[in-house]
Amino acid sequence: MRVRIVGVGGREMALAWRLAKDPNVTQLQVARPHPGWPSRTVVVDTLNAEQTDLVIVGPEAPLVDGLADTCAAQGIPCFGPTAAAAQLEASKSWAKEVMLAAGVSTAAHHTVALSDPELDRIALHMAADGVVLKADGLAGGKGVFVCDEADDVRRALVALRAHPGSAAKQIVVEERLTGPETSVFGITDGTRIVGLPSSRDHKRLFDGALGPNTGGMGAIAPDPNMTAEGVETVLRQVHEPVLAELRKRGLSYRGVLYAGLMLTPSGPRVLEFNIRFGDPECQALMALWTDPLRWLYGAATGCLPEGQPDIADGAACCVVLAAPGYPTKPIRGALIPTPQETPSSTVFQAGVALQAGALTAAGGRVLGATGWGATLTQARTHAYSAAESVRFDGAHIRSDIGL
Ligand code: AMP
Ligand code: GLY
Repeated sequence: MRVRIVGVGGREMALAWRLAKDPNVTQLQVARPHPGWPSRTVVVDTLNAEQTDLVIVGPEAPLVDGLADTCAAQGIPCFGPTAAAAQLEASKSWAKEVMLAAGVSTAAHHTVALSDPELDRIALHMAADGVVLKADGLAGGKGVFVCDEADDVRRALVALRAHPGSAAKQIVVEERLTGPETSVFGITDGTRIVGLPSSRDHKRLFDGALGPNTGGMGAIAPDPNMTAEGVETVLRQVHEPVLAELRKRGLSYRGVLYAGLMLTPSGPRVLEFNIRFGDPECQALMALWTDPLRWLYGAATGCLPEGQPDIADGAACCVVLAAPGYPTKPIRGALIPTPQETPSSTVFQAGVALQAGALTAAGGRVLGATGWGATLTQARTHAYSAAESVRFDGAHIRSDIGL
């Protein structure tokens, strides 16, 4: 099968790494060269049904822009939802409306226009118990403000009003929940859904969950807070009702449905949906999931196979090496030692480039050192020794991923 991967970050490198090991993948195609792709990857400029059997879309933006619809028009199976269904991630207010209609547990909320003079009153009224303000649209992780008190709300409103772009035309004002966070992924053809190991991302820049939010500084799978039985329960209580509600609206969802959850004292509640694998959650998942091709193809063709995905026992851990200055002003150019794969670790190359034949840091999240083993402790040890083997000048690494 000739498989095209869309996107060029650590998540896509992990997908390509795993798919390159599958003898059924005869060709891996990408849109542009990158040092991180497996060695036999080919660059194919155009998308057409004569040369591609399956398109796997990594990031959300191409899906929101209608890539799955384009593939459908050309008769190419696409792993990833249509633009209409992609609104689950692209519009937080729409996702809330779908959840309410589907009876899915989530934080209580109001959707209010940024220009509505009532916004301040509603948000300040809710501030007493903690409130979260969210720009409705895609804001690259910068549109969510968790507020403890009235002053936080005032600062959040100033920040949201400073960028009144289309992402923030509507504001979702929601109840602040508390508890550990976890992520549950379902692979679906729109009707049937199968679960993958749960995962825990580490979004803050510094140890102890301190500092600014990032795209993710590391991830583990499975998350010890969310067992395989817990995943099944979440699929029944969250994913399946949402898929049923989408079908009612004439929308078929093919791809991965990622539920970001908070484990509250009253049970798991949904914080957000993503329409794609997480980055770096995907790196940890791919270390454990040995047969993704048949599931991704089954989802894309509307016919998921029988049975369950083949998942290795044990655990995986991905530790991100970020450029100095990440996330605001990553400094590029550091020389990177040549990454080596071992039987229990590999290094996914995300923000890198070749300069005069040398591998250099060229982005914010540069490398994803990923280890696996029989236990989370072993997976961490392998991930951290892989990280040490590629540590570059100024690399920023959290030391508590998976602790
Ligand atoms: P989101 O993009 O909606 O997942 O929000 C980003 C982050 O904000 C989440 O990972 C949580 O840490 C936090 N967050 C979002 N919604 C809430 C909520 N209702 N209560 C508490 N924290 C939240
Ligand atoms: N790591 C968080 C995300 O991919 O949304």
